[in-house]
Amino acid sequence: MTDNPVYDKLLSCLNAIREKTDFVPKVGIVLGSGLGDYAQQIDICAEIAYTEIKGFPVSTVPGHAGKFIFGYVDQVPIVCMKGRVHYYEGYAISDVVLPIRLMKFLGTEILFLTNAAGGVNPSFHAGDLMLIRDHISVFAPNPLIGANLDTLGVRFPDMSAVYRPELQEIIRTTAKENGIYLQEGVYAQLTGPSYESPAEIRMLRSFGCDAVGMSTVVEAIAANHCGLKVCGISCISNLAAGMSATPLNHKEVQEAADEAAPRFQKLVTESVKKFGASV
Ligand code: HPA
Repeated sequence: MTDNPVYDKLLSCLNAIREKTDFVPKVGIVLGSGLGDYAQQIDICAEIAYTEIKGFPVSTVPGHAGKFIFGYVDQVPIVCMKGRVHYYEGYAISDVVLPIRLMKFLGTEILFLTNAAGGVNPSFHAGDLMLIRDHISVFAPNPLIGANLDTLGVRFPDMSAVYRPELQEIIRTTAKENGIYLQEGVYAQLTGPSYESPAEIRMLRSFGCDAVGMSTVVEAIAANHCGLKVCGISCISNLAAGMSATPLNHKEVQEAADEAAPRFQKLVTESVKKFGASV
């Protein structure tokens, strides 16, 4: 026990996992809405349901059934999060980023974040993939608020290159090599769970935002804080509020993500294989 409950919970979750597997991943992958089929690409060594890890936040959203999958993509040892928890479910923000810190403790060096997002950039289309170049975090709580976990990182971490340029370049090249059209841009996280209003989307666009969602940024901040190398891709599942004639619904988000899934899987797999050589 330490004097920090956030750190204590991390250690007890780590112990619970280490009682079940000694697998050491190099790359961590967080699968977003509807992209959970990615497990098919993995030569699986172990699976641990989040419910088996005492204290671990368990998602309540349909389509976010939660487990860690340990295994290999080609020769690269990975841990995959099938299902993430969102702040709008009511968890403390420290719980929302606990799985990210846990992946670091398990040995992960590179974190690949994925999500489904609304397209804010008018040149985007539903089904596009977008390489995340940078983010806007100011509409979500900062996950580092509270006593700093000095063993993880510094109090005031730099955020000028969260999405590592070298990983971005690998993903860009991989997309080109595989004929996958890739948009690029800035992702903003809002808390949700309501979708944005058209006025909020206009505001986000004027702030330089290209895609909007309800996850990822807090994870990226916590990951960067603890020294993980981060990269991310959004699947643009819909045009954001006010940009198309129809209202938004969760089913549409999942259907567009399903349609993009083969391209997404290919891009992640081929990129991860190259990451394996780079760490
Ligand atoms: N807004 C916020 N989050 C989302 C959206 C959206 O339009 N689409 C998918 N996730």
